[in-house]
Amino acid sequence: MKIEKTFLAIGILILSLMINTSVFADKDEEGERHGRHEKHEKGGRHEGEGRAIVVENAAYKSECSSCHFLYPPEFLPKRSWEALMKGSDKHFGENLALDDKTGKEILSYLTGNSAERGSSEWAGKILKSIGSSAPLRITEVPYILKEHRKIKPDVFKRKSIGSFSNCGSCHTGAAQGDYEEDSVSIPKE
Ligand code: HEC
Ligand code: HEC
Repeated sequence: MKIEKTFLAIGILILSLMINTSVFADKDEEGERHGRHEKHEKGGRHEGEGRAIVVENAAYKSECSSCHFLYPPEFLPKRSWEALMKGSDKHFGENLALDDKTGKEILSYLTGNSAERGSSEWAGKILKSIGSSAPLRITEVPYILKEHRKIKPDVFKRKSIGSFSNCGSCHTGAAQGDYEEDSVSIPKE
């Protein structure tokens, strides 16, 4: 009788261990998906800073925000900004007609704050995901594409969004450098 009870106890112990480990395994996956939050709670790796820098540069603001969202410099590597600014007379079909001095000032701001210099977790992930390529679009960066893979193409076409490139339409804190999940709100139309 006593022996039977012991076996039963051991059986229950093993079973509960198995259940527990599978629960923990699920938690790990969850942690992977929401890695950022965990990092914050634990004090995090340094590159896990929650925010991209807030764009302050006057020339960049005035010359680069009339047609579209003002992209954070740390979302592209130095070589991408160099290529973009070198081709500023043929910028996605537009001639930005920048004078030399303004062009140089913007370039220096962008390269001085590029992904290599960025302290947000996103800068590090962007760099890692592009390898040695020099994408001319943030919307072509594999990490950025991966983060948005669940959004249906139709959603980007909504009137108040327009395109994937219009980051600020969904990232309500983008002007403050906040791209955290919690501050994402996808407009309904
Ligand atoms: C005259 C309008 C205009 C101005 C001014 C302008 N751009 Fe653009 N930019 C565009 C167009 C058009 C696109 C392509 C958008 C698309 O295809 O959805 C674009 C796209 C971009 C992209 C890629 C966005 C993506 O999809 O990831 C970057 C980066 C960019 N511009 C940077 C700049 C910078 C830096 C400046 C200032 C030096 C600037 N732009 C000024 C018209 C402009
Ligand atoms: C249609 C709305 C929409 C647009 C436009 C959009 N995003 Fe997002 N973004 C999202 C959603 C939704 C997520 C995923 C949030 C989640 O993980 O649940 C996301 C995730 C992200 C993340 C990862 C956040 C994290 O730490 O998990 C980054 C970085 C990001 N977006 C940057 C951008 C940039 C840069 C642009 C513009 C080039 C952009 N997004 C355009 C909706 C959008």
